[in-house]
Amino acid sequence: MNLLELHLHQFRSYHESVFRFEPGAIHILEGANAQGKTNIIEAIAYISNLRSFRTRNLRDLTEHGQPSFSIDAVCEHGGIREPLRIHHEAGKKKLFRFGNPVASFSRFVGTLNAVLFSPDDMMFFSGAPVLRRRFMDTELVKLSQSYTSALRTTQKLLKNRNALLKKKQPEPFLLETVTEQLVDTQGTVIRQRQGFVNRLNERLREFYPVFSGGTEHLKIQYRTFVDTERNLETQMKDLYRKTRERDLRFSVTGDGIHKDDLVFLLNGYPMSAVGSQGQKRSALLALKLSLCSIIQEKTGQYPVFLLDDVFSELDPVRRQKLIDLIPQNMQVFITAAEPVQADFGNRMVCVHHIKKEINGKDKQNESQ
Ligand SMILES: Nc1ncnc2c1ncn2[C@@H]1O[C@H](COP(=O)(O)OP(=O)(O)OP(=O)(O)O)[C@@H](O)[C@H]1O
Ligand SMILES: [Mg+2]
Repeated sequence: MNLLELHLHQFRSYHESVFRFEPGAIHILEGANAQGKTNIIEAIAYISNLRSFRTRNLRDLTEHGQPSFSIDAVCEHGGIREPLRIHHEAGKKKLFRFGNPVASFSRFVGTLNAVLFSPDDMMFFSGAPVLRRRFMDTELVKLSQSYTSALRTTQKLLKNRNALLKKKQPEPFLLETVTEQLVDTQGTVIRQRQGFVNRLNERLREFYPVFSGGTEHLKIQYRTFVDTERNLETQMKDLYRKTRERDLRFSVTGDGIHKDDLVFLLNGYPMSAVGSQGQKRSALLALKLSLCSIIQEKTGQYPVFLLDDVFSELDPVRRQKLIDLIPQNMQVFITAAEPVQADFGNRMVCVHHIKKEINGKDKQNESQ
């Protein structure tokens, strides 16, 4: 999969800018601080995930003083060129594929599949479980329609169940029905999360040792409220029967996939407790490379790989290892504040000089 064109209109620091990108190449977005490099990465990630990794408030994405923004992209997948468009105005987001409006989020998300490494991810191992659940959801939603619909239904059912639990005397039949439906949809979510973690672990066995010089191993454990090696539905039914009184007392569903987590083990110990900054960075890169490999396996195509500020954080040896690990025909975008010193072998490298112009117009010089 490739991003061939990106047209930003009133997006962040870009008033009106067009970028063209070579398929399969390594694109280096080079420029001093605050020139708009990450803004480009954010736009690409946004068109992929329909979520910004820097803000939850869409107003932040709109150029200051403007009422709306749009991102137009042309992507290529399996030899097909597909125009994608997001237009945001008055708190509403409109999505288009091939120029036609797309009503549902799930028919748009992942059309351009981008995998992101950002320095902000450093909280990933030690932050709240929601970060790691969001990672699973963001990626699985792009890969599986059945996951998307099971996740959405589960979220709705949990809300309904909690609303029932808050009532003074909830109708027992209603509570029973919503719990049964919850058991069904959660089974789908748990199986796909476990399958995803299993495949990531297979890939991590290959990628992580490259960064660590072969002396360390990294493993992910998927933690959920039932034993994934036994029948999920039977366990969930038993559990919800046993915890019914407690849930009624606290007016909330205590157990469910909304509490799931991932534990990263470095040589058997939690990464959050023992990992150095460098080990965490390497683990994140190995994780994202593993993800790229899984996406290729599942869809037949590599995603677009976005590496924000990755080089300033790595020593020259790890930097070179990263470049060597990037698959030949995967299109990559790397931001850098300084010229990148590394051996790219026979890869096509395009350097884009990113500079914000004072009058609001942006300039892009390109050389290869
Ligand atoms: N909504 C907005 N409207 C106008 N300008 C914005 C908006 N949001 C951010 N900016 C501007 O964009 C610039 C930051 O862009 P960006 O984060 O892409 O920088 P960068 O090139 O990645 O810098 P660094 O090397 O420090 O990471 C800042 O000048 C900021 O003021
Ligand atoms: Mg930046």
